[in-house]
Amino acid sequence: QSGEIMRIAVVGSGYVGLVSGACLADFGHKVVCIDKTEAKIVDLQAGRMPIYEPGLEDLVCKNSATGQLAFSTELGPAVADADVVFIAVGTPSRRGDGHADLSYIYEAAREIAAAVRGFTVVSVKSTVPVGTGDEVERIIRSCNPAADVAVVSNPEFLREGAAIDDFKRPDRIVIGLPSDERSREVMAEVYRPLYLNQAPIMFTGRRTSELIKYAANAFLALKITFINEIADLCENVGANVQEVARGIGLDNRIGSKFLHAGPGYGGSCFPKDTLALVKTAQDSGAPLRLVETTVAVNDQRKRTMARRIVLACGGNVRAKTIAVLGLTFKPNTDDVRDAPSLSIIQALIDFGASVRVYDPEGMEQAKLMLGASVDYARGVYECAKGADALVIVTEWNQFRALDFERLSRCMSKQVVVDLRNIYRREEVCKHGFEYVNVGEGV
Ligand code: UGA
Repeated sequence: QSGEIMRIAVVGSGYVGLVSGACLADFGHKVVCIDKTEAKIVDLQAGRMPIYEPGLEDLVCKNSATGQLAFSTELGPAVADADVVFIAVGTPSRRGDGHADLSYIYEAAREIAAAVRGFTVVSVKSTVPVGTGDEVERIIRSCNPAADVAVVSNPEFLREGAAIDDFKRPDRIVIGLPSDERSREVMAEVYRPLYLNQAPIMFTGRRTSELIKYAANAFLALKITFINEIADLCENVGANVQEVARGIGLDNRIGSKFLHAGPGYGGSCFPKDTLALVKTAQDSGAPLRLVETTVAVNDQRKRTMARRIVLACGGNVRAKTIAVLGLTFKPNTDDVRDAPSLSIIQALIDFGASVRVYDPEGMEQAKLMLGASVDYARGVYECAKGADALVIVTEWNQFRALDFERLSRCMSKQVVVDLRNIYRREEVCKHGFEYVNVGEGV
């Protein structure tokens, strides 16, 4: 592969920073990932991952060994050396108003301003509201009028659990350029290995690029919410949502992905990004009513799911034990942020149930959120023991092949609530279970 080796600094070694840094190093660039949390850097230097993501540990260890990838708490030297500095710090929802909290971004901008040497591209990877690139540029120039920087927007489209694959085989790369176009060549060089692999690279304006990220996530959230409402309709009119999804998804204009009905979307992106987009749109005078409704419908859905479980238990869960399988917002991650499981569990507790939970990777994170309000099991069958209902909230592979004979022996009532439709009704019912799922009118 031809191409120049770029020196890259990644500010923020969270999910996005770490995956991007490791993949860029794997392309042959020389990358330093920076983070303020010393313990995290020490762990990474020793090859211990702060998050669970398939393939990440191998990639980090392999590229650390060759010296392509390094970790540091010190931003100064890495930024001074870099051709490109990626900003990949968090943008949580600001308490109270739903706007994205940009204080970490601006702090990074000030620190970068003080450290840059020579022409440097500053590439904002964090998900940020339209206009943030302008503000980052303004901050850098006011902190250091001599800084020779071009601030670009380069949103990520990584799914947790499939992030490395998404980085290496993206549907597209989006780069939002400032009026100073010198950055175009530099960014083209950073991603050269990818578009040699045919990934389309799209150059556009910086504000447009920032909006593409939000519009993409909002559209996906809308698609999920649409099929969830169709699922409710299916139940009322005796239709089957999985077949409806297949039937509409075969139309190329619609596409088959993100049409799995379930307990509502969660995670660290969709809930936060849809809210932030709604705020931006309202402030700009062009409200996005479809997205506003998506947010409201999705929030309500989690409560509806808890009521569905109560109904499956005969209308009352007081003093009953509910076993919950799956806490993370989706499989192959340990992330429980804004997971539907949390709202569902809270509602079940409010209805008087005792809840026992199990998740293959998310137990530690869940303990931080749920504390002593639930019991924690070490496996599926321990979780199900004596339970009045078994609820599948996350579609982990290991829940796809449950031993229903064994469950039947250890549970006190034979009720399965499958909120991800991972089973066929006959398969579960033949073992004597009552089976409740999503979007199958019977
Ligand atoms: C999402 C996007 O898919 C990424 O492209 C984006 O880069 C990322 O957000 C981000 O902004 O950083 P992620 O949050 O990791 O990625 O997870 P998804 O796979 O998109 O799932 C989000 C939620 O939607 C999960 O709770 C999942 O269970 C739910 N979902 C997804 C459904 O209920 N049905 C579906 O058909 C698909």
